[in-house]
This record gives sequence, structure tokens and C-alpha cells, in this order.
Amino acid sequence: MKAAVIGGGGREHALAWKLAQSRQIEKLYAIPGSAAMAEFAECVAVPLADLDGIAAYCEKEGVDLVVVGPEVPLTEGLADRCRARGLAVFGPNQAAAQLEGSKVFAKSLMKKYHIPTAAYETFTDEKAAVDFIRNGSAPVVVKADGLAAGKGVVVAQTVEEAVAAVKSMMGDKIFGESGGRVVVEECMTGEEVSLLAFVDGKTIVPMISAQDHKRIFDHDEGPNTGGMGAYAPAPVLTEALRQTVMDTILVPTVAALATEGITYQGCLYAGLMITEDGPKVVEFNCRFGDPETQAVLMLLDGDLAEIMYACTQGTLQPEMVNWKAGAACCVIMASQGYPASSHKGDRINGLEAAAAAGAVVFHSGTQKRDDSYITNGGRVLGVTAEGPSLQAAIDKAYAAVAEISFDGQQVRHDIGAKGLRHLR
Ligand code: AMP
Ligand code: GLY
Repeated sequence: MKAAVIGGGGREHALAWKLAQSRQIEKLYAIPGSAAMAEFAECVAVPLADLDGIAAYCEKEGVDLVVVGPEVPLTEGLADRCRARGLAVFGPNQAAAQLEGSKVFAKSLMKKYHIPTAAYETFTDEKAAVDFIRNGSAPVVVKADGLAAGKGVVVAQTVEEAVAAVKSMMGDKIFGESGGRVVVEECMTGEEVSLLAFVDGKTIVPMISAQDHKRIFDHDEGPNTGGMGAYAPAPVLTEALRQTVMDTILVPTVAALATEGITYQGCLYAGLMITEDGPKVVEFNCRFGDPETQAVLMLLDGDLAEIMYACTQGTLQPEMVNWKAGAACCVIMASQGYPASSHKGDRINGLEAAAAAGAVVFHSGTQKRDDSYITNGGRVLGVTAEGPSLQAAIDKAYAAVAEISFDGQQVRHDIGAKGLRHLR
């Protein structure tokens, strides 16, 4: 089978790494890929924004399986363009990708079908949103409707902070059209966990749970990032809770979409809050999480190409998806200035030593200069290791992190700590 991974970040590096291990794969492409992915995939310089160019290239090369990593091409209809050319694509069509692409769409679907999530109101008028917030209390959450690279959510601790968020989204349009509509939502309390699932249109097979670490600094302090690390499985999601999430969230959501005439196929990512009243949806994503994927795929005991291809054919079976015992931990190394900015061009040392320490280093934002890698983004590396226990996985990942160095590197030191607390 020939497969093409679309994207070039850490998540796509992990997807390509796992696909490359499949006995089914004879040839792997990465579009556009990265220097690190070029070690086992042929990188093709078609820009991510060129949807027709990507679909045409895959058709021309006779690609049997297209795997779309990021959300933007999915919400813009890359899967539809590929399917129109007869290609098998792992990833939802444009209609289904609205689950991530529009918070208003996702929230209305959940309300209509009684899927547990925070209470909310939608606004298209700035003054109405401000009045609503002033008549309520804080904390309260303000969300831009559309995609905003993970930055469109403000958990406001005061009414004035929420009002300021509405003004910057709707008045100043800091996220462009994405902020034309906003959702004002009840602030939930509890621990967050991600549950991703393979979906073939009707059959839903959950993956192992994972927990992201969104804030830049230890102890969940500082601004939100794309994710500073993840571990899997996350003990906060007990077996009983996982079943509850399947029964009350994942299965009803795919069924609700089907009732609305929309088939969901690909990875469905449920970002959850475990509240006193049980698990509730924080957000849906229409693709794999980054960096959850790096940790989760390390534990996949199965053939990712076979699983993904089955999703595209409607023939997914739970037996295809098994998980290794033990745990995995991914620690992100970010560049100076992240998340406000990112520093490029710093030379990265110690990658071989990190691999020798037993970790797999997924590249989120690097470039090759001569024979070495340099930083080329906010999140630079996802240093990932597995072990027989969560503690062992954490220790191995951090031992590898200690081998790597670049100027201005930022690393959280407590990835997995919440999981360890649950286990104690
Ligand atoms: P999102 O981009 O939707 O994942 O939101 C970013 C982060 O904001 C989430 O990971 C949560 O930590 C937080 N968040 C979003 N919605 C809520 C909510 N209703 N209550 C509390 N925290 C929230
Ligand atoms: N790790 C969160 C995300 O991928 O959206």
C-alpha cells in the first residue's frame, strides 16, 4: 500500500513513524512533511493550503491511503476533494469537520442531542454578548466560533476580563472571521482528559486515554500553548468513566451527526472535563491531538495502516486495535519566547544520545542545516518514551530530554505528575 501523511508537525511525524512500521506500507509520502519525516518518507513540496494540488498529487501517484493530520485542511474540505478523485482518505469531510471548525455547530449539536457539555449562549452581536456577561458572574468562558490555532478560548476569572475578550474577538477581530460569532459558556471545574477514537462512519473504537498539559509552566501556570506534553493512559479516566464517555458522548455524537445526514470518518477527539456530574465535553477536534498522538501511538499494538484503511472502507473492527501494557510520556521541548513567539535557527544538540537513552524524538518544528537540526518553530521536539509504568515512562522521557540542549529551550518538569497522583 502507498500512503501519504498530510502535514509536517510532531503529530504527523508520529503518524508517519507508526505507519512506516506497518507491513502493508511499501511507500510513504509526507506532504509537505519535514526534514525529520524525510528519514522514512518521501517529502513532497506541495503547500498545505493547496488542497487540489495535494489531491491531484495523490491521485497521480496512485496513493492508496491519504492520512490528514491538521484541522485546517479538513475544515476546508481536503477529504472531500480527495474522495472526489476516488482516493481513500482517513479524515472527516468538511461537513463533519465542523465539529471542530465551528464551536457554535458543535455546541448546538450537543444541545439538540443532549450530549453533556457546559451550558452556553451564542452571540453575533458584541453588545448583546457584553450585556449577557455583565448580567452574569465569573469565572466564565469566552470562545471564538471558528479556528484560532488553539488561542480562541479565554477562561475569564472576572467579568471585565470576559468583556475584554469579547471586545477583542468581535470588535477588534483579533481572530478575523473566526470571532464573528462567540460562545459564552459556563466554566466547568474538574480534571481534563482526552479520549480519541477511530471512527469508520458507524463503528467507534476508542484509543487509550491521554492527558495534555496546555499551560507553558509547571503546575499549570502561565499562558495556554498548543500542548507542552502528554502521557497515556490517564488514570483519571477509569474504565467505568471511559464507558460513560463512549455511551454518553462518542456514540451519541456520531449518531447525532448521522441523523443530520453527516458521516463521520477519521479520528474523533473528545476533550473532556471530568466534573462532579460526570464527564462533559470541553471541545471536539476532528483529528489526532498534538502531543497526545505521540504518547498514544507509542502504545498502539496494531497495524495503523490497516486500522486507518478499514476506517475509510467502513470495515473497522475493535479487534484491530490493541494496546500495550504500561505507559508512555511525551515531553515537549519548546523554543525561546513560546507561546507568544518562537525562536528559529538554534542548533539542537544531543539527539543521538536521546535516542540511545531509549526515547523516540518526534520533531514538531525543526529544520536541517548541514548535518544538524536547528529549531524552526514554537514547539520544537516531542521526546517520547514508554515504560512498564507511568513513572518509568516519565523517567525515561526526562532522561532523554536531559541529553538534548538548544539555546532558550523551555521544558515543563511535571509532565505526568497528575497521573502519578491518581495512582498513589
Ligand atoms: P479549547 O481550545 O476549546 O480546548 O479550550 C482551551 C482550554 O480552555 C481547555 O483545554 C480548557 O482548559 C479550557 N476550557 C475551555 N472550555 C472550558 C469550560 N467551559 N470550562 C472550563 N475550562 C474550559
Ligand atoms: N493537544 C490538543 C490539541 O491537539 O488540540
